[in-house]
Amino acid sequence: MFDLTITGGTLATATDTFAADIGITDGRIAALGHGLEGRDTIDAAGKLVLPGGIEAHCHIAQESATGGMTSDDYTSGSISAAFGGNSCFVPFAAQHRGMGVTETLDLYDSRASGTSVIDYGYHLIVADPTPTVLSEELPAAFARGVTSFKVFMTYDLMRIDDRQFLDILTVARDYGALTMVHAENSGMIAWMTERLLAAGHSQPRYHAVSHPAIAEAEAINRAIALARLVDAPLLIVHVSTPEGATLVADARRDGAKVFGETCTQYLFLSRDDLDRPGMEGAKFMCSPPLRDEATQAALWRHLQAGTFSVFSSDHAPYRFDATGKLAHGPEASFKQIANGMPGIGMRLPMLFSEGVRKGRITLQQFVALSATNAARLYGLKAKGSLAIGMDADIAIWDPEETRIVTAEMQHDNMDYTPFDGREVTGWPTTVLCRGTRVIADGALAVEPGHGRYVAREKIDLTGHPGTRVPELDPATNFGARIVP
Ligand code: URP
Ligand code: ZN
Ligand code: ZN
Repeated sequence: MFDLTITGGTLATATDTFAADIGITDGRIAALGHGLEGRDTIDAAGKLVLPGGIEAHCHIAQESATGGMTSDDYTSGSISAAFGGNSCFVPFAAQHRGMGVTETLDLYDSRASGTSVIDYGYHLIVADPTPTVLSEELPAAFARGVTSFKVFMTYDLMRIDDRQFLDILTVARDYGALTMVHAENSGMIAWMTERLLAAGHSQPRYHAVSHPAIAEAEAINRAIALARLVDAPLLIVHVSTPEGATLVADARRDGAKVFGETCTQYLFLSRDDLDRPGMEGAKFMCSPPLRDEATQAALWRHLQAGTFSVFSSDHAPYRFDATGKLAHGPEASFKQIANGMPGIGMRLPMLFSEGVRKGRITLQQFVALSATNAARLYGLKAKGSLAIGMDADIAIWDPEETRIVTAEMQHDNMDYTPFDGREVTGWPTTVLCRGTRVIADGALAVEPGHGRYVAREKIDLTGHPGTRVPELDPATNFGARIVP
């Protein structure tokens, strides 16, 4: 007799689809079989039973370097994620210059602890890699289960230079952590911005012009070269251009430990959305910016071909009011408007509806992109699949349910959704985190605090041989030992 059984559903993992019941005991999957009995039962007849989604790129209770705070905290952000089919998320803990890493992680612990409805971890943003950070605090972060570090190549107050990037890549490599990078060429963006503003082009639409596609390609190329120099694993986050995706694909084919992520908005929105009347376009400003329809088609092909291991929302919620997008007034220039848009609740419904339902990707690819790949890459060992012994993190989907998207159905702390009015088919109706219903038949069923911090393990690099440059190989560099 199990604590809970999920019966009669169609299960899908990243490799298979099959009919089975699930038996859950002590929050873990204890059995997959037929005729399982539990003290409590969920009837999943006619439904898809999938691993709970893992949202691996979102900004929750995070200050920007200029002080603006995202509108979602760990309660509203996790509730929105859960309604969207997720049972775990990994937001960022942002170190700003002058802050220590341990201090940063303690701060985010105080924000997240006891407030999330789903399990969570953090990626650490490293903006100030001092000698102490590199030699003591990054290893300490790794030891507390923060096994991924994000760096920025742009944003004046966040960006690191190439030499600092190499330092972080090397420390991360030595501990088995994954470095993530926001790759855009800072100088190109600043140069374009200056000229656009001088010519009076300050409306939201010019944000996209100021972040040219070639600025992303240049930075991705450089980031991959830096990672290859030291043979470190690297994930290029929010890839928005075919040029960038091709660089990721080429590096992967060459054996480099390189991974790519793209996001919902780059598949479903375009720079035409920035052209909406008045300041409406500000709702669609993010970095890298939205591109065009040809780019959407190319990114779909890369998703189909396996270039991208991770598909995320990059949920960066700033309300369309004076607390967020309009903090500098209704006449603000694109340079003053907060970057980012919400979408944590729409990542999976959009991908399911437009991807699986329309035959663009298989159900297996959907599961891999929604949970399994992120679990393997980010060291979430007990999550991301339906297998005996794993956490019972499960999303039960009604594949036929059709909804028209509204801001209200996001359950976040936002006043808009960029996907407003879209019709989607396929909806997660019940979501479990460690065997407890977080969402039950479309309603929130737990109190904040159900979610627990998950200490993550090192990245799994099986199948990624890496590259060794001759100048770092003692056999071919006259015996110089660069790394002590
Ligand atoms: O515009 C975006 N994506 N803002 C969030 C911060 C980031 O760079 O991911
Ligand atoms: Zn970024
Ligand atoms: Zn982001």
